[in-house]
Amino acid sequence: MSRLSSRHLLGLEETPQEDIQLILDTAETFREVIDRTIKRVPTLRGVTILNLFYEPSTRTRISFELAEKRLSADIVNFSTSTSSVKKGESLRDTVQNIEAMKIDMVVVRHGSTGAPYFLTQCMDANIINGGDGSHEHPTQALLDMYTIRHKYKKLKGLRVVLVGDIKHSRVIRSNIWGLKTMGASVALCGPATLLPYDVEQFGCDVYTDVDEALEGADVVNIMRIQLERQQGGLFPSQREYTNLFGITKERLKRLNRNYTIMHPGPINRGVEITSEVADGKNSVILDQVTNGQAVRMAVLYLLSGRKGEEE
Ligand code: CP
Repeated sequence: MSRLSSRHLLGLEETPQEDIQLILDTAETFREVIDRTIKRVPTLRGVTILNLFYEPSTRTRISFELAEKRLSADIVNFSTSTSSVKKGESLRDTVQNIEAMKIDMVVVRHGSTGAPYFLTQCMDANIINGGDGSHEHPTQALLDMYTIRHKYKKLKGLRVVLVGDIKHSRVIRSNIWGLKTMGASVALCGPATLLPYDVEQFGCDVYTDVDEALEGADVVNIMRIQLERQQGGLFPSQREYTNLFGITKERLKRLNRNYTIMHPGPINRGVEITSEVADGKNSVILDQVTNGQAVRMAVLYLLSGRKGEEE
């Protein structure tokens, strides 16, 4: 198969195994381009891509922008602080006005769950979710899976523990759906107050004791405590969180010998992870960032040319 089942990438909950496999395999070919002296191929020449970021981002925004440049696309970068959103213009009016200038694809990050889906209802462009509220961040999970698969040559059967704010993390949601689809064993660990009330719907083992959760794990993917999405009072203090859930060198003894430490960034050093672990020999945190470009190149390539297609 060489075609994705949808012309948008909104999340991994509904994405079939064949699509994930195709994206990861395609990313392998683009990964080599990033290491070349001249990091550019003509694949998306003539395609215009809007990077529509309503929330702050370092990794996702720059990674998509570089992926687009390396594919020779034309790029428009939108940020709320310098746009007419400041004058009260709605999301619909904003995107329809930009699309009138002939946009083919949109990468969107938005604080509201469902914003990427909303765009599919009012635009012809292909929509890629760059993170929506607490819902999904599919390209982050794809690059996480790419990085794991690159090291272990498989995803099936690996034990992956996702630690942190399960309730608010879109990265965790996308990782759960993607990893389970690919046959990994997924465990979730966090404070009881940061577990969603319907956590069983994920079909994962759930722990509130991090030492138990880490036992026999191959991969630990550690999430940032999202202070900006907390209503307050969900855990007593950062120090308490660090004591109970922080990933320290001592806790690594419980993992399998060839263990892997991951974090999507940005890191709160000394809160959810110590610097010693984040910068240790089993950490692939910066590899995740490098691989992210290849995965995003693959997604852009596979969705391109399908503007206005019927679903
Ligand atoms: N991992 C991630 O989404 O980071 P940014 O918020 O910097 O894009």
